Formats: sequence, C-alpha cells, structure tokens
Amino acid sequence: MKVLGISGSMRKGGNTTDLVNVILERCRVAGIETDFISLSGKKIHPCLGCEKCKEKKCCVIENDDWEKIINKVLDCDVLVIGSPTYYYDVCGHLKNFIDRTYSLYHDRRLAGRKGVAVSVQAHKGANRTIQTLEGFLSTHEFSSLGSVKGTGYHEGEVLADKDAVEKARKIGDKIVRLVNPRYK
Ligand SMILES: Cc1cc2nc3c(=O)[nH]c(=O)nc-3n(C[C@H](O)[C@H](O)[C@H](O)COP(=O)(O)O)c2cc1C
Repeated sequence: MKVLGISGSMRKGGNTTDLVNVILERCRVAGIETDFISLSGKKIHPCLGCEKCKEKKCCVIENDDWEKIINKVLDCDVLVIGSPTYYYDVCGHLKNFIDRTYSLYHDRRLAGRKGVAVSVQAHKGANRTIQTLEGFLSTHEFSSLGSVKGTGYHEGEVLADKDAVEKARKIGDKIVRLVNPRYK
C-alpha cells in the first residue's frame, strides 16, 4: 500500500507540510510506504476550461509539473491532501492542481482510493477549506478516512495545536489498520 501526502502551500516547510507529515510519519513507523510532495516551487497552470480532456481523456496542458504529480496520485492507495486556509478556502495553487483533475473525472480514473483532507488556519476558515477538499475527494469517488483542521500562523506553530496533532496521529493509525487490522 502506498500513502501519498501533498501540501498545496507555497511554504515548503510550513504548517500544512507539518500536519500532513504527522499522518505520514505514523504510517512510516508502521512500515508503510509513503511519499510527500510540496507544491511549492512547482509550475501548475490553471485549467483552461477547453473541455478537450473529455475526448482526449487527459489534460492537454503539457509544459508544467502537473502530470508528474498526478501520476503519483494515480499510483497511490491513500491520498492525504492538505492546504493552508486562504480567505476561508484552499490556496490558489492547490486549486489549480485540483481543477486540472477534471481531465481524469470523465473516466473516474481516481476512483476507489481513500482520502484524508488536512487544513491549517491562523484563526478561522478551515471548515470551508476542508469542505472544498472533501468535495474534490468525493467527486472523484475517494472514500474518506477523515479530516484534520489545525491552527497556526507562523511556520511550525501548528505542531503546538495538540488536538490537531492527536487527530492527525489517529488518522495515521487508521490508515495503518487498512493493512494491519489489529494495529493499535
Ligand atoms: C493569502 C493568505 C490568506 C489567508 N487567509 C486566512 C484565512 O482566511 N483564515 C485564517 O485563519 N488564516 C488565513 N491565513 C493564514 C494561513 O492560513 C496560516 O498562516 C497557515 O498556517 C499557513 O499555512 P502554511 O504554513 O502551510 O502555508 C492566510 C494567509 C495568507 C498568506
């Protein structure tokens, strides 16, 4: 089983990266293969709305990093997708990434996987961020393993949000139990 974590934040070592990695770490220590991608520094053009993907079954935009990343998503069994809260929703860079997955929707190419939504806010708005991420996951027919909201402003602060870290650990353990039902 492969677990892939994605942080949509432009802060490579930011709070979203930290919270996603709390989940991945629980999987790693239990011997599960994990991978992590930060979208920071990645070139991801927005969806053109050209609808050419309906016929071609793939996105026609070729000159960026989206395809390399989506191939990793296609290769995973569990996706942990995280975003910082920007104006009560996902950040724009991750939204560009998500919008491009429309090209895989027509043939339900992402269906059957499991997903976890993660968001970090400074004060408020993470509920809607989680809703957007869960909308993405359910549209693609992922089954949900839960979600985690954390609070933190400067890099690293989310790790002081004890409830969020505890919930992230529990979700990590839930992922482990997919392969080892007796794991505590
Ligand atoms: C453009 C922008 C918009 C933001 N909007 C919100 C918001 O609506 N609500 C909130 O609580 N925090 C907001 N924040 C704060 C971030 O959500 C917070 O700093 C978060 O920890 C960033 O996560 P990261 O380190 O993974 O990038 C915003 C930050 C930026 C840069």
